[in-house]
Amino acid sequence: MKKVRLLPPQVISKIAAGEIIERPASVVKELLENSLDAGATDITIHLKDAGKTLIHIQDNGSGIEADDLETIFQRHATSKIRHAEDLFAIHSLGFRGEALYSVGAISDTILKSKTSQQETGFALHLRGGEKVSLKPCTFKDHGTDIEIKELFFNTPARRKFLKTNTTELNQILNIFSNYAILHNQCRLRLTHQGRDLLNLAPTEDINARIADTLNLDKKHMILTEKAFSLDRQPYSVTLVLGDINITRTRRDMQFLFVNGRPVAHKNISFHLNKTYNLILPDGSFPFFAVFLNIPAGEVDVNIHPAKREVKIKQEQRLYPVLRALCEEALMTQSNIKQAGPFTFETPANADKPSALERARARSYGNKTSLDYSRAEAPSEDRPDRADPNTSFAFSLPSYEKEEPSLFTPQADPDLLRAPKDHLHTKLASARFIGSFINKYLLFENDRSLLLIDQHAAAERIAYESLLRQIRKGTVETQMLLSPVTIKLTVQERLIREDAHEELEKIGFSTSMLDAETVAVHSYPQLIKDIERSFRQLLSGETIATSDPDSIARRACRSSVMSGDKMNPEQVRHQREQLLKCLDPFTCPHGRPTVLEITQDFLDKQFLRG
Ligand SMILES: Nc1ncnc2c1ncn2[C@@H]1O[C@H](COP(=O)(O)OP(=O)(O)OP(=O)(O)O)[C@@H](O)[C@H]1O
Ligand SMILES: [Mg+2]
Repeated sequence: MKKVRLLPPQVISKIAAGEIIERPASVVKELLENSLDAGATDITIHLKDAGKTLIHIQDNGSGIEADDLETIFQRHATSKIRHAEDLFAIHSLGFRGEALYSVGAISDTILKSKTSQQETGFALHLRGGEKVSLKPCTFKDHGTDIEIKELFFNTPARRKFLKTNTTELNQILNIFSNYAILHNQCRLRLTHQGRDLLNLAPTEDINARIADTLNLDKKHMILTEKAFSLDRQPYSVTLVLGDINITRTRRDMQFLFVNGRPVAHKNISFHLNKTYNLILPDGSFPFFAVFLNIPAGEVDVNIHPAKREVKIKQEQRLYPVLRALCEEALMTQSNIKQAGPFTFETPANADKPSALERARARSYGNKTSLDYSRAEAPSEDRPDRADPNTSFAFSLPSYEKEEPSLFTPQADPDLLRAPKDHLHTKLASARFIGSFINKYLLFENDRSLLLIDQHAAAERIAYESLLRQIRKGTVETQMLLSPVTIKLTVQERLIREDAHEELEKIGFSTSMLDAETVAVHSYPQLIKDIERSFRQLLSGETIATSDPDSIARRACRSSVMSGDKMNPEQVRHQREQLLKCLDPFTCPHGRPTVLEITQDFLDKQFLRG
């Protein structure tokens, strides 16, 4: 008997929809793209329950001919390309003719539309991809109006997988912000449960739109542009770079657009973040937006089902151009002396190198000219670890190349018990011999040199103390005489609202000063950098359902200053506190706090036997 058969159309459509529509944010993305492709200059999206029960988009684009209304919900129905070769020169956001087919298959959809040539509009109602009705309707002017209700009503597995409204809304805001930044001349509005989340008037310049969307200060942005050719192909790029006054603990304020399409490109992001090492300390990430224009034939957008990634033919040759442009703008236009609390300067010293020299040395070792080709490739989502190109006195191999006999291993905790105990005893009795670049504390013990990473150790100590206090419900707080004010993005605002109580419990007492600015009245005493810590808590997932451990970990992340000179008494205290920790040899985010360099290792380096 035959075992192989073709799937029925209802199953095929659900499988296809599964690839393109993961969550409400995917619907918002597809509908926004369609409106923009239709030339809309005014787009409004209303949401209910973070889009789970309603996504309603209205645009003033070209509209859709009545005769096409049913066709556009069929698979591979598109007005945007015709031939296979068009795939290699795509000028619109859409081209597969799959989005409406997918959305229609898993929701209750009403689409109303009218072109300027038509007398009247038409409304098509579909449920689960099946036509319910098609009839004339009133429609002002021209454009399209789509209501998507009951998303995933017939795919319960998908529906169950949806996260909380705050998380889903966050995803939608991320998508929306990208297109808002890109289309500064378009009026864009997003509401949730009848309340405006973003209401953006058209702006002449891109910086103004970025400032409105992300609630940033325009004066902290640098704009630089360049046209160039690679392999005789014309390229152009616009960079909008945040200066040192805009920093985050995550890379969530970084945007990349290739030919008018928001995309992710790990290598481009990596190279720009690397260049920012010139002005930002480790663990601080900048805001930047990159607008790249590449001849359509030089870039492939057809490599990801949601078109989130692109392949650029000349990418290896593009990186140095982007890095050089970014470096020049940062060095000539941003005032690096304003570094404020994150300065990595050493204390007054007679013939100290210039800030620029130090910055360069820090990023690229002691080379005088920059050699971009040697930069390492980004690895999979690892934390921003020690830069192996940075040269410092001991020129240690990066700890990623693990040498268990010489360095504190960090993998399997059981395997590490013996060496850790041994390290504990050694560190306890070691003699402090000095500090290196106000970053590492040096100790000697018998036949080893021990190095404490000041910052990682401080994070471990703060994290364990804060966790203990949260568990006991006795977080020690510090009241502020005048509140610290922080401008929040919409996402941060929503998470703060959601987690107001949890924030109070861990010592952050806050109130909204105006629609966008929060005033912090008290904070947990163990935290050294209020803004970074607060933002860290508000980033990503909601904290309302997080456990104390992850809250403490987030609150402490990069919130401890590095680069402070410590006196011997402070060093003694830090070592003591570190040794009292339950897990003294890794920071809460997985980096080592202590390294051991044995005499044997040094002898080998000096070719002594
Ligand atoms: N808001 C809109 N205004 C005008 N026409 C639209 C609108 N939305 C969809 N269309 C028409 O419907 C067609 C199908 O849309 P759909 O999003 O399914 O496919 P696409 O945009 O062509 O490709 P992709 O699947 O890559 O998005 C489009 O090609 C376009 O002609
Ligand atoms: Mg589309």
